[in-house]
Amino acid sequence: MRKKIVAGNWKMNKTLQEGLKFSNDLKEALKGKTVNCEVVVGTPFIHLSEVAKNFEGTVVHVAAQNIANKEKGAYTGEVSAAMVASTGANHVILGHSERRAYYHETAELLTEKVELALANDLTPIFCVGEVLEEREAGKHFDVVAAQIKDALFELSKEDFSKLIVAYEPVWAIGTGKTATADQAQEIHAFIRKTIADKYGEEVADNTSILYGGSCNAGNAKELFSNPDVDGGLIGGASLEADSFLPIIEAFN
Ligand code: PGA
Repeated sequence: MRKKIVAGNWKMNKTLQEGLKFSNDLKEALKGKTVNCEVVVGTPFIHLSEVAKNFEGTVVHVAAQNIANKEKGAYTGEVSAAMVASTGANHVILGHSERRAYYHETAELLTEKVELALANDLTPIFCVGEVLEEREAGKHFDVVAAQIKDALFELSKEDFSKLIVAYEPVWAIGTGKTATADQAQEIHAFIRKTIADKYGEEVADNTSILYGGSCNAGNAKELFSNPDVDGGLIGGASLEADSFLPIIEAFN
């Protein structure tokens, strides 16, 4: 059975000290609580090692927000999958719309990153989602299917089954505008069907598909109650333990 997951994405926020304070706060807040989902915190590279150490022995996993598309070598400023894995982090967010839009990440590049992540035992949280004009033109299904097919459908069944998918409509990210529960369910079911058509029902049934885009304490429960919404990828509301905890508890 697929996992329920609540994953945070700090993006480019928090100094090292602020990141450590968050991890202490969340650890404290989770003490003695029943947690019914997997929890992941996605930090900038510089936090990974210390935050991962701080969460050791807890239910919280740590994710990077990117990796290089090269294994190693003369790529100044880049951070490899092996380096991320060596910090104790075990997930990586890939294909986020901000990386696609601002850093021109293509399907081809993302395939390389996904393969390197998997080769280093990092679980990719692979993001897809349409922009507003695409939704308004009714093209969101085609856009999302193409993002999945172009970057991921060369993977073997075994490799694909290690992925987490996150549907994040770009018009909902950081805007306070959330997809309705029905909109989320409709496209999550479509994503699962797209996966089933290629890799079979079993792989599709076992793939966790997260919703992202202005998900918060107020709407998480309704979004997560949909049969094909297996949790969330949370930006703004993941920055403080106080706003992140109620999203984790939406599964209680
Ligand atoms: P948001 O970001 O929750 O701030 O909308 C989500 C994301 O980009 O992952």
